[in-house]
Order: sequence, then C-alpha cells, then structure tokens
Amino acid sequence: MRHALMMDALFERLGIAELNPAAALGDGSWRGGAGGFASIDPASGEPLALIARATQDDYEAAVGAALRNFRRWREVPAPKRGLFVRALADALRARKADLATLISLEVGKIRSEAEGEVQEMIDIADFAVGLSRRLEGSMLASERPQHRLFEQWHPLGPVAVVTAFNFPVAVWAWNALIAAVCGDSVVWKPSPKAPLCAIAVQRIVDEVAAQHDAAGVCTLLLSDEVWPVVHLAADHRLPLLSFTGSTAVGRHLAPIVAGRLGRYLLECSGNNALIVDESADLDLALPAIVFGAVGTAGQRCTTTRRLIVHRARQTELVERLRHAYAQLRIGDPLDPATLLGPLIDEEARRGFESAVSEAAGAGGALLAGGKALPGHGFYVEPTLIAAANDWPVVQRETFAPILYVIGCTDLDEAIRLHNAVPQGLSSALFTLDLRHAERFIAAAGSDCGIANLNVGTSGAEVGAAFGGEKDTGGGREAGSDAWKAYMRRQATTLNWGRTLPLAQGISFDLPPAAAAFAKSATPSTQKP
Ligand code: UN1
Repeated sequence: MRHALMMDALFERLGIAELNPAAALGDGSWRGGAGGFASIDPASGEPLALIARATQDDYEAAVGAALRNFRRWREVPAPKRGLFVRALADALRARKADLATLISLEVGKIRSEAEGEVQEMIDIADFAVGLSRRLEGSMLASERPQHRLFEQWHPLGPVAVVTAFNFPVAVWAWNALIAAVCGDSVVWKPSPKAPLCAIAVQRIVDEVAAQHDAAGVCTLLLSDEVWPVVHLAADHRLPLLSFTGSTAVGRHLAPIVAGRLGRYLLECSGNNALIVDESADLDLALPAIVFGAVGTAGQRCTTTRRLIVHRARQTELVERLRHAYAQLRIGDPLDPATLLGPLIDEEARRGFESAVSEAAGAGGALLAGGKALPGHGFYVEPTLIAAANDWPVVQRETFAPILYVIGCTDLDEAIRLHNAVPQGLSSALFTLDLRHAERFIAAAGSDCGIANLNVGTSGAEVGAAFGGEKDTGGGREAGSDAWKAYMRRQATTLNWGRTLPLAQGISFDLPPAAAAFAKSATPSTQKP
C-alpha cells in the first residue's frame, strides 16, 4: 500500500472512512445503504475504501430532500443564494491541495491537472456568484399601447446531475453551482469509479450549507448499479437530467427523459481533431497536441484524438511528436515529474489494447507507443498511429492516449475529414493564415461546439458555454448563458391602460348590451 500514513491523514481531513455511506441529504445527514463497492486506486489496482450502495429508500430520501428544499430555496433571493456559492468557493480554495491529492489517488490524474480540476470548480463558483446578481430577463416592445411585455426566469426544480469519472468534481460544480444560484436543488449521482471525490466534496458542501441556510440544496446518491441513473431519468419530479458520459448511455437515457417530456442536457463523447495547416507555427502546435492527446491519459471528452496535418508538414511534425512522446514521464500521478498517469481501470486498458490492434489490423502504422505496461496499475504508453479517418476505430471515441495521424492536402480536405465523424465536441486549427482561420470558424467550417484557433482541443475555460453537437448530445454547461437550461422562462404581458386591445389587431367587440350588463354586474359581483 503506497503512502499509507499520508492517505490516512488525508482521508481523515476529508471525512472519508474505510466504509462510507451511500447517500447524503445535504443537511449533514447521511444514509447507510446496503452492500457495497470499492473505490480502486488506478496507479496500484488496490482498493482505497468501500462505499455502501444506495437502496430504493435512499433514493427516495435524496430525491425527497431535494424536492422539499427546492420549494424553500427557490424563494431565497438569487444574490443570497450566491453567498452560499461564494462561501463554497472559499472553502474549496482552502481545501484545494487535499482535494487535488484525492483526485490524483482515485482517478489517477496527474497532480497539476488535479489542481486544475479543483481550480475549475473555484472558477465556476466565482462565475456563479457574479451570475447570481445578473440573472436577467428581457424587456420587449409591446405592439399594444400602455402595455409592457417581458420575460423573466424562474427556478426550474430539483436537477439530476450524473457525472463521469474523468472530471469527478468539476463537472458537478459546473452544473450544481449554476443550478444553486438559479434556485434549483441538485441530486448528484457520480461515477462509481470516483465515489470518494464526491463524498469529500459533499462533506465540504454540507459544512458551508449549514452556515448559509442552504441545507438540502445539494444531495448525493452513490451506487455502482445502473438503476439509480435510469430512475433519475424517469423521475417526473426532476425536470432536468444533466448527463456527462458516453454517447451510448446518453442515447439510452434521452428517450426515457423525453418520454415524460422532461429536459435533458447531454455532454457525451467527443472525437476531437486538431488541424495543422501548411502555415502553422509548430512550436505552438506541438505542446497543444501533446497536452491534448496525452493529458488526463487521453480520458477527457475534449482529448485530441485525430491530428489532421498538411502533408508538407507531416514528416517534420511526426518526428517532433515522436521525440516529445519519448520524453514523457509515465508513473505515479502524485509525483510532480509525471506527465502521464494510469488509465482508470483494467477495462480501459483492454479498450486501449483492442483499439491499437484494430488500427494495426486496418493497416495503421505505429509511430510511437502501442503497449500496455506490465505490473501494477493500469498504465499504457502514449501512442501515435498513422491512420485513415474512415476506419471504424478512428470514428469512435477510445478513452485512452491514442492519437491518429491523418494526412491532408489542403484546408478543404482537412475540414471535410474533420467533420466526417459522428461526434462534434471540440476542434482546433493551427494556422498563421487569416483566411484559413476565418474559414474554420465560419458556417461551413468546424461543426463542433468548440472551435479553437492556435489553441488545442482540450482545457477550455469556464467562461464560455461548454458542449457539442451531433453525437455529443447538443447540451451546453458552465459559462455564458448556459444557466438558462436550469431555469424556466415566463413571458408576461402587463396592461396598465383602461382598454383591452387584442394582439394582431383582432377585434372582438362584445355586443353593447353584453358590455353594459358586464359594467352594471361588476359592482354587485364584488359585494362581500
Ligand atoms: C470533460 O472531459 O468531460 O475543456 C470535461 C476541458 C475541461 C473539461 C472537460 N475544462 O478539457
């Protein structure tokens, strides 16, 4: 067991036990669950701790608490709701180092990226605090005299947030902290591969919520079973399901939510490409490609999976990439010198191996890496493969550090190849050519939710809305006006005049006798 003493102290500070409860009601109370599952350290393959499984009663308790507390929370003024999130941001700043260590331990993220993930929570919290003072509606021009026409936004309800292992806490924060200032409560179902991160965050939230009248705004359900997620999708008490994970699971859940005419916000698979044209500055492109392809061990939804490179630059770029890949330090994610930690589990390592052999079978030339590393933990080599865009293995998302290199002859071909995959999350073009740059982000350019110029595909800031098109699911989370997904819109026409003009110029004049009757009848109907 590595770092046993360090881990004991860390777990104690973060409120993690050997056996942890299955659900939290957000008011400091936790529920025991039944049975249990283990959280596994991907660097060693050893269990870190056990977690009880939520039962049907725990589910009811968590959803019930979220519903009850929504009814109270929605009436707290938004800037006051923001004070809760502001205090949470302070608490996260204070616990940043510990949370980052736990993220490295539980999901294998390297230290600096784990700190970046906690920073991403803090950033979205700060964004949400600002937002809490400017949840704005719109004032529109009424066509009728002495009328005012406006739209305002109201809290939506308890929101189900289902998150993946690869961003075990930041994606919850994108959803929950925006939802909280919008006046919603949240039921969080984290990945069974990252339950301890969720428990640690919930304990911090509980402390802050108690001091800010926000008890029960954030609830938590832990399980390694499928049913809680299906229940959340089917539960009419939860007007929104926000799901982050694979397209296959998103495709299964969306019709369940749609069947009850609920809303879903999907952030599913990406198959992100980075284009290098003949003018590109390779000194910029190189680190962007390596971070994009190898960062988080290739397990970001924004990971660079395809490199589409102009043939005139291909040999030079591949040489430089091979050199860079050979220098990458693979190892313990807690060691600051490590740049590539383990994959999340054995299944992911097998997925890597089968993708490499499928690409080789299709005629792919291995340019770097290609092997799973023997020994403890789920390590693999960073891998470069010369490939064709239409191979099935290139068309799908394999959550591993495999980068397919695809040659092209001009920008037309590059954009065509770029868009010829089912997914549409993130994209990037490296160019010094202004016309190419504009073309890439124009209507007929990249079809993705994110299209960067001289910036890689991964590592987005929280300020813009995050999400993608096609099989990625169409949802938008985090910054910009993504908050609108967590609220309901209400339109009001207000008449402050003495006549009742109808819209569209419709005349509907009551016969004089009826109007006169109405006038004379009015006072008598108002008598007590
Ligand atoms: C994800 O992988 O689900 O842009 C989210 C990025 C991060 C978020 C990724 N800020 O890579």
